[in-house]
Amino acid sequence: EQIANFCCVDEFEQLAKNKLPKNWLDYYASGSCSETTLRLNKSAFLKLRIKPRMLRDVSKLECSTRILGNKIPIPIGVSPTAMQKLACPEGEIANVKAVASTKSIYILSTLSTTSIEDVAAAAPDTIKWFQLYIYKDREITRNLVSRAERAGFQALVLTVDASVFGKRYADCRNKFSLPPHLELANLKGISSSTFEGSEGSGLQSYVNSLFDPTITWDDVKWLKSITKMPLVLKGILTAEDAKIAADMGVPAIMVSNHGGRQLDTCPASIEALPEIVKAVGDRCEVYLDGGIRYGTDIFKAIALGAKMVFVGRPAVWGLSCAGEEGVKKVLKILREEFQEAMALSGCVELSDIKKDMIVHEDSYAK
Ligand code: FNR
Repeated sequence: EQIANFCCVDEFEQLAKNKLPKNWLDYYASGSCSETTLRLNKSAFLKLRIKPRMLRDVSKLECSTRILGNKIPIPIGVSPTAMQKLACPEGEIANVKAVASTKSIYILSTLSTTSIEDVAAAAPDTIKWFQLYIYKDREITRNLVSRAERAGFQALVLTVDASVFGKRYADCRNKFSLPPHLELANLKGISSSTFEGSEGSGLQSYVNSLFDPTITWDDVKWLKSITKMPLVLKGILTAEDAKIAADMGVPAIMVSNHGGRQLDTCPASIEALPEIVKAVGDRCEVYLDGGIRYGTDIFKAIALGAKMVFVGRPAVWGLSCAGEEGVKKVLKILREEFQEAMALSGCVELSDIKKDMIVHEDSYAK
């Protein structure tokens, strides 16, 4: 077992890079355009310092939290990433089962290679949320929402940062497409479930021809009217938008820039987080994804006001290296590193992790 001795998430990324075919690896790894935001998501965490407190009894740590009314033991979940069967044959099933073992939250992408129903059947007792892209054809959209609700998904995660597709140069060069044995399982029989990269990225053509670029806050209201599932808006990056969401009664926001894959040079998620938390106060739950690779990153996000964090690529690297076991190990490493960060900074529960423990490196220069 190659992963048995792995100590950190980076090792999974390195091995995945050796294992995956180039066009799929490029699809998973890339960000849009200059990839500035992609890099910033990680580097922004490293510019923050944790000021630790000593001599507190840290023998017992309590990491549980309540998310949309459900108690979960650890504030680390898995973000939606499309087409997980490119990483390993069991794809989404392996990923959701790994999350099931942590009793945390798994978010299934609209563009999955396993259907809503099959994911639900594989992990019936796990908290699953469904990530939605709004199709121009609203019957397709309605169909996806009602199937997720019927299958027991507990929240609807509307991705708001992808009204058009962020250009990823590598996918354009590779003419990225799905191999013949895979398809977009949720769209089978109701829309095109495959795509080809005849000119540039096939996924880019798919998204730009089928997803609805006209969506506005009215569509958020529309979604609220067609489902009982609570809404999570994924991809909010400003206090202004966060306030609109809170005013509309949206219960949760995920601060995210789509892993640096949409608007290049927009802020890192961790940079955008504080103004959003300040803007909404207790009116919405705020989560974060983007660039989480170490337990200390999770600590910083919680300190700056996130209720929980999600990881996209780290789970994909785990899948690529060793399927379900790989994701389990990635999540275990992140949990243990987070607990170590708590203990070494004198925090025994999440509410001990306070904003004033985080200092930006620039403030030391003065
Ligand atoms: C994504 N992301 C994404 N988001 C979404 O809402 N729907 C989707 O289908 C996808 N697909 C997808 C594929 C791949 C390969 C990646 C890397 C990302 C974005 C994802 O949910 C999340 O926001 C980022 O992955 C978080 O950043 P990290 O953890 O990858 O740094």
